[in-house]
Amino acid sequence: MSTTVSSKVQSDVAERFRSVRQRTMELCKRLTPEDMMVQSCPEASPAKWHVAHTAWFFESFILNVFQPGYRLFNEDFPWLFNSYYRSFAEFPEKKLRASFSRPGLDEVLRYRCYVDEHLERLLEENPEPEVLSRVELGANHEEQHQELLLTDVMHAFYTNPLRPIYLEDADRDQAGVAEPLRFVEFAGGLKEVGFGGGGFCYDNELPRHRVWLGPYALANRLVTNREYGEFIADGGYRRSELWLSSGWDAIEQNRWKAPLYWNENESGWRIFTLRGERRVEELKDAPVSQVSYFEADAYARWAGKRLPTELEWEVAAEGRAVGGNLMDSGRLRPERAEARGEQVTQLWGDCWEWTASAYLGYPGFEPLTGSLGEYNGKFMSGQMVLRGGSCATPRAHIRASYRNFFPPETRWQFSGIRLADK
Ligand SMILES: [Fe+2]
Repeated sequence: MSTTVSSKVQSDVAERFRSVRQRTMELCKRLTPEDMMVQSCPEASPAKWHVAHTAWFFESFILNVFQPGYRLFNEDFPWLFNSYYRSFAEFPEKKLRASFSRPGLDEVLRYRCYVDEHLERLLEENPEPEVLSRVELGANHEEQHQELLLTDVMHAFYTNPLRPIYLEDADRDQAGVAEPLRFVEFAGGLKEVGFGGGGFCYDNELPRHRVWLGPYALANRLVTNREYGEFIADGGYRRSELWLSSGWDAIEQNRWKAPLYWNENESGWRIFTLRGERRVEELKDAPVSQVSYFEADAYARWAGKRLPTELEWEVAAEGRAVGGNLMDSGRLRPERAEARGEQVTQLWGDCWEWTASAYLGYPGFEPLTGSLGEYNGKFMSGQMVLRGGSCATPRAHIRASYRNFFPPETRWQFSGIRLADK
């Protein structure tokens, strides 16, 4: 052992590694090998690719660096399953991932076991601090892919004319009425934002720094399907004055008339979910989901409000215990907020919340060194920040300073709307 690490820390990291790896395979249990090959849009990836790529991350950035004499499972895998790390290796075009019928699923699963066995051995033999911190990074990376795996499967099943159901669970439908929309006041002032605790965070959450916020107010809950339906019925998608210029272009190019998984037939709107398709009336009090930043922004303008900035959101969330409808609830669909008196609800889970903030580095931002520096920093252009996690985000993965980001036209994630005022 090159540097002393307590056996408690070592065993905690090993346990975290095991539980994350196991959960990925549990998510795949409901999928057939054929399901795992589908890539139904260029943004998505086949489940089989997620399974291979998450093993690739541990092999490429840990085993191949820290395990003396480590032999690659397959000489082609370092470039084949590279996603976007240009300084590491070449990589195939993303939209071609559905053509990877070889290696077969059996071989990908053997690759996974091979990496797991070697990683466990490395944690036994050489648990130096850099190894442990990279295993934690690899676990967080895999958790991001678990959410992507679910949203990619959802898109794949939506694209399938049979509209398969991922989670057969008819008893879990939620009744009740959403709380009336209220706005909760925040005083603002000089605040600290960015990650400030112990434990893991991504480089893009640092450094912690001070900001000045004016007084603001946040909606007590997310915008519901019923409220979003009123926007549609009021001609929301036909009124150019409500839309950013690029948003209007997106409407015209894509012919958007509703959120991604809404379909209209003779009996009205229906919404596709991982638990099957439902009439909008059945989900009217659940948060609207699978909307782009452009739609969130247009809705806010129509409602006479605005979207919160990411820092307003973070100040409201800091110190609030993480809980709610995250992946761990097993519900896998945004649901009606539980009443919490005067408090802001649904900060965690249900839907990622689009913010009015462009994704940029904080003052003094320093990416990780080497190829891992490509993880977050190089995407700081043309994307918007989302906060709070979704019903597909693992609970261990989210925190107040966590910054998710996607291009403003993105719709296949669990992305919703919280209004702000003032
Ligand atoms: Fe990745």
